[in-house]
Amino acid sequence: MKLSCAFSILSIVASASAFTPTSTSNTRGKTALSMSGVTRNPNFAKLQGGYLFPEIGRRRNAYLEENPDMADRIISLGIGDTTQPIPEHILNGLVSSAKKLGTKEGYSGYGAEQGMGDLRAKIADKLYGGIIKDSEVFISDGAKCDIMRVQQVFGPGVTTAVQDPSYPVYVDTSVMMGQTGEINPETSQFDNIVYMPCNAENDFFPDIDNIPRSDIIYFCSPNNPTGAAATKEQLEKLVKVCKERGSILVFDAAYAPFIRSEGVPKSIFEIDGAREVAMECNSFSKYAGFTGVRLGWTVVPDELTFSDGTKVRDDFNRVMSTAFNGASNIVQGGGIACLDDEGLAEIDVLINYYLENAKLLKEAMESIGYSVYGGSDAPYVFVKLPDGKKSWDVFSEMLEKAQVVTIPGAGFGPGGEGYLRLSAFAPRETVIEACERLKKAMA
Ligand SMILES: Cc1ncc(COP(=O)(O)O)c(C=O)c1O
Repeated sequence: MKLSCAFSILSIVASASAFTPTSTSNTRGKTALSMSGVTRNPNFAKLQGGYLFPEIGRRRNAYLEENPDMADRIISLGIGDTTQPIPEHILNGLVSSAKKLGTKEGYSGYGAEQGMGDLRAKIADKLYGGIIKDSEVFISDGAKCDIMRVQQVFGPGVTTAVQDPSYPVYVDTSVMMGQTGEINPETSQFDNIVYMPCNAENDFFPDIDNIPRSDIIYFCSPNNPTGAAATKEQLEKLVKVCKERGSILVFDAAYAPFIRSEGVPKSIFEIDGAREVAMECNSFSKYAGFTGVRLGWTVVPDELTFSDGTKVRDDFNRVMSTAFNGASNIVQGGGIACLDDEGLAEIDVLINYYLENAKLLKEAMESIGYSVYGGSDAPYVFVKLPDGKKSWDVFSEMLEKAQVVTIPGAGFGPGGEGYLRLSAFAPRETVIEACERLKKAMA
C-alpha cells in the first residue's frame, strides 16, 4: 500500500518536471499568455474552420460591420431554428410539470437515464404505432447530442458513410472521434469517410450499389439540407444493402412530421428487416418548437448487434447511464403533452404553417428561374444555382443585394456546391418579405 502510494507520487513529480511551461511576452515584456503542458487532441485540429452556423453568423456580422445601416433589414432564412410559439396544450404540459416540482407530493429529483416510462410508452405507441418497444426508446436532450453519443458507442475504429451534402454533425463528430484522416484540400473530403453523392441527377438518393462498404451509414430523411424524403423503395434498398454488407444504419428522422406524401415512410422501422440493421435518432425540436426546450429520443432495437453478437442497445444504454443523467423532468412533461391528441393536433397546425412557408419560398425561387427541390415533405427548399455559380458567392450576393441570409450548399459538404438551402422556419411575414426582395434582386 505504502509502496504504491510512493510510486504514484513519484510518477506525478516525474511527469510534472518533464513539463516545461511556455509563455509569450507582450511588447512591454510582461508575460501575456501561458500555455498548459497538455497536447491538443489532434482530431480537433483536423476540423475545418468553425461549425457551419457560427461561420454564417460571422459573415453576416462582417457584412453588418461594413453596412451598419442595414442592421434592421436583415432577414434570416438560414439556420433551421423554429420561430413560432409553443402551442397552448403543450405549453401547459411544460408549466404543470414545472409547478409539480414546487409541491411536496409532486417533487422529483434524478429520473431514469433512459427517460420517463410514460413518455417512452407514448412515443412507441403514438409515433411508431407499436412497431417498436418502449424499452427500445431512449429519451434525451436532443438528436444532435445523441449523434455524438452514438459515435461514442462506435468509437474511433469504424468507417463511416454520409450523404453528400448532409447535416454537418455526422462528419464533424466522426472527425472528433478520430475515425477519419485529414481533409483533402482538393476534394474537401476527409480521408476514411465515404461521401455518397445525393443531387438532382440521382433524385437525391445515392447510387448505393456502387459505393464502397462502410461500417456505419448516417442517413437523414426528410433530408437536411436537400429537403428530399426517401421513398419506401429507396429505404428498402438501403436496408437490404446494409444487411448484405453488415453495416449499421443510423437513421435521422428529425423532420419526419413534415412528411405529407402518401406512402413515404416516417421511420426506418416501417421497412422490413430494419430492426436488424438500423437505429433511429429523432427529436421534438421541429415537431413542437422545442429547439430551445431540448428533447429528443433514439430508438435502438433489440435485434441490432455487433459482430460478436452483443447488443448495440446495451452499449448505448451504458453511454446514456454514464454520460447523461436523464432529460429534464419539466421538459419530459412537455413531451408527454405533445403526444396527447390535443398536442398532436397542435403539432399538425405548426407543421402546416412551416410547410406553407416552404411552398411560398419554392414558388418565389421558381419564378426567378431556378430549379427548386424539397419543400413539400420538409421545411427546406434546395435551390439549384445556374452552372458555374458558387454557393458562397450567391450567399454573399443575396446578403448584399437583398439582406437575406441563406445557407450555401457547400457548407453541408462538397456535394452541396452549386445549391443554396432556404429554411422555411421564419415567421410568415418574413418569408413573404424575403420572397419579394429576392424576386426583385435576383431576377
Ligand atoms: C438532420 C438533423 N438532425 C438533428 C438535428 C438536431 O436536433 P436537436 O435539436 O434535437 O438536437 C437537426 C437540427 O437542425 C437536424 O437538421
